[in-house]
Amino acid sequence: MLKKNKKKGNQKWLQAAIPTGGTAGDTKTRKKIAWALTGSGHFLKESLEICSRTPNTDLFLSSAAEEVLPIYGYNIESLKKNYKIFRDKTASSVPVGMLYDNVYHTIVIAPATSNTVAKCNYGISDTLPTNMFAQAGKLGVLSIIFACDTAPVVVTKAPREWVELNPRKIELQNVEQLKKCSDCVVVESLRELEIILEERLKKIGLSWKKSSF
Ligand SMILES: Cc1cc2nc3c(=O)[nH]c(=O)nc-3n(C[C@H](O)[C@H](O)[C@H](O)COP(=O)(O)O)c2cc1C
Repeated sequence: MLKKNKKKGNQKWLQAAIPTGGTAGDTKTRKKIAWALTGSGHFLKESLEICSRTPNTDLFLSSAAEEVLPIYGYNIESLKKNYKIFRDKTASSVPVGMLYDNVYHTIVIAPATSNTVAKCNYGISDTLPTNMFAQAGKLGVLSIIFACDTAPVVVTKAPREWVELNPRKIELQNVEQLKKCSDCVVVESLRELEIILEERLKKIGLSWKKSSF
């Protein structure tokens, strides 16, 4: 009797362990793009401009993005008029669960801070964007990362002025390492970001939105 019950229990467990999904990254069942913003002022405006032309897109913010956006003149309440916005308010990155619900076929992290690039490279997932990236990788969903601090000399817009920065060796190494990650495309310029997005939209049978917000 005991033996029989044990077998039944095992069967139940085995059944639960058989994946019922398998549609992750399937562009036929998944309709949306998850666009993660990090706390980068560099190329923030330009990334948001491309994002505004990208159809079916929701925004996912890191806590740093939420702080940096208003510094560059973006109001989160105004962004809400055009996007569904998910904020980094939970320790376990609860919104990431939507990746399991056949919602998103592509993750875009643009612009990506050096911090986020480093975490993605080393497999650390402790923010909403890095959790999206990690789970997407495990599910075979494509991630596109715009690593914007990639040149030896970067001229960037600080809140009040333009400044010249010299990314450290570790930052440049992280970008190179991340390029080797599967299910992930690392781009280093706005032009590359537009080209890869255009290819992705074409694959899904979509095109750029006619007018941005
Ligand atoms: C006004 C402002 C602009 C910033 N711009 C950048 C940037 O262009 N690149 C970068 O790597 N970090 C930048 N940072 C620092 C990041 O916001 C910081 O490293 C943060 O911890 C990143 O967190 P996240 O990667 O989770 O978004 C900026 C910070 C501030 C306050």
